[in-house]
Amino acid sequence: MKFAKLFALILPIIPVTYVNAAPDNPRILVAYYSLTGKTEKTANAIADASGGTLYKIQVEKQYPADKKERRKILEQEIENNELPPLAPTDINPENYDIIFLGSPVWANHISQPVKSFLAKYNLSGKDIIPFVTHSGGGRGQSFNDVAALCSGCVVDMDGWSSWGSGVGKKLTRWTTEQIKSVQ
Ligand SMILES: Cc1cc2nc3c(=O)[nH]c(=O)nc-3n(C[C@H](O)[C@H](O)[C@H](O)COP(=O)(O)O)c2cc1C
Repeated sequence: MKFAKLFALILPIIPVTYVNAAPDNPRILVAYYSLTGKTEKTANAIADASGGTLYKIQVEKQYPADKKERRKILEQEIENNELPPLAPTDINPENYDIIFLGSPVWANHISQPVKSFLAKYNLSGKDIIPFVTHSGGGRGQSFNDVAALCSGCVVDMDGWSSWGSGVGKKLTRWTTEQIKSVQ
């Protein structure tokens, strides 16, 4: 039997392993939502360490500055799982290979604007690296949320989680290690 014929016969039984590997020069986006500035600091440090493009996720209708009033609106939004519409942006996250995705932890989950972000774009096939900041309660369900809400994405479950911004050498090292791990 000729080699070409033999190859055609055995080809269908060779198991196909799909490895999602970002290209050598990946286009990196650091997308984040931040209400009071902590996740923003983390995002800035990740952008510095990765050379990625920063994208500040913003809601169309700003939350009130008054803390009490704001808390009431946020609690209602969380309770009803409302997805606030996002402000327009020139950045298209679908054009990137690796997306660091940042959020404050809200009631043990990712924030509603980050849920809006995940609902808005088709990020299937992208490497998503979540990072969250919290005030002592830990990451909660946030990484699972990203995995559940990002259909077809490859979510790095070894995400970043810190009480406050967590900026420092450890964050810089984590950033470069995560990029290597998805390549
Ligand atoms: C509505 C709301 C819910 C929150 N829920 C939690 C929580 O469940 N656990 C926690 O540790 N911190 C919680 N926090 C605190 C924030 O996660 C924390 O302050 C975070 O670092 C703020 O990030 P930012 O400054 O980028 O908005 C909550 C804050 C808000 C406004």
